[in-house]
Amino acid sequence: ADIPQDLFGAIEALKKELNAVILAHYYQDPDIQDIADYLGDSLGLSQQAAETDADVIVFAGVHFMAETAKILNPHKLVLLPDLDAGCSLADSCPPEAFADFKRQHPDHLVISYINCTAEIKAMSDIICTSANAVKIVQQIPADQPIIFAPDKNLGRYVMEQSGRDMRLWEGSCMVHEIFSERKLIDLKMQHPAAEVIAHPECEPPVLRHADFIGSTTALLKYCQQSPKQQFIVVTESGILHQMKKAVPDKELIPAPPTSNCACNECPHMRLNTMEKLYLAMKHQTPEITMPEATRVAALKPMQRMLEMSI
Ligand code: 13P
Ligand code: SF4
Repeated sequence: ADIPQDLFGAIEALKKELNAVILAHYYQDPDIQDIADYLGDSLGLSQQAAETDADVIVFAGVHFMAETAKILNPHKLVLLPDLDAGCSLADSCPPEAFADFKRQHPDHLVISYINCTAEIKAMSDIICTSANAVKIVQQIPADQPIIFAPDKNLGRYVMEQSGRDMRLWEGSCMVHEIFSERKLIDLKMQHPAAEVIAHPECEPPVLRHADFIGSTTALLKYCQQSPKQQFIVVTESGILHQMKKAVPDKELIPAPPTSNCACNECPHMRLNTMEKLYLAMKHQTPEITMPEATRVAALKPMQRMLEMSI
């Protein structure tokens, strides 16, 4: 349709016209990362969304992330370039089934990973991200039983790190659960000097080979700070774009999934394109909306997270 030749220029002009800010996750296409005003992990993106004075937030990420921005900014227009950009982890925790699960464990405090819908957030006491999950769980009194949802892998990792027992919802991320332990071992043998850096959404057989485990931002910082020259990167391959910029002289090796692809991309994240970003800004749609009661209920655990991660 009416797509300009110079998409970068056209998006920059719309940014000024709308007083818009583009927030992008590291799993977006490299072009989108390059035009973003702020790039970060889920915690950084939430903090940025909480602080921005822009009138319009264009969220280059998935639906739960844009929803989180709307929860924090009821009076701003929040745009998501493709409303179908969902998340297998968020989808693995349907509200009715989760309400049943909560009823079975009435004395439990509910800590939910930010990768969940606004309805699940509204049923939670505290939200966390991969960057602050351990720190938040450590702040809960030892005798308080905890439900952790929806990611069982992050949940198990937090249990190990904190020494706390938690009741886990059995959800997982389709991108991080398909890394192959066998192929990772082969890669380690080919590159014995490399450090393995992994996201905590990976399965335990993969995580046990990791030298460092952290959020996307933490992985990026780690390869900058480590004296090592080679890294096997076990997360969505979009992060490699920023890693290459940050450590151009180091060797970055994407860990392969069990399928025949060389690297692992999130099909949801990759639904966003520069064209869709441009069209969303030009037509100010698709917009994120939600019932006000859900938003208000979901805001409370988000605010607790922001307070507890300082
Ligand atoms: P972080 O960037 O917060 O580590 O999250 C990773 C992820 O899977 C987002 O969907
Ligand atoms: Fe969801 Fe996994 Fe994609 Fe992140 S990478 S948006 S957790 S499916």
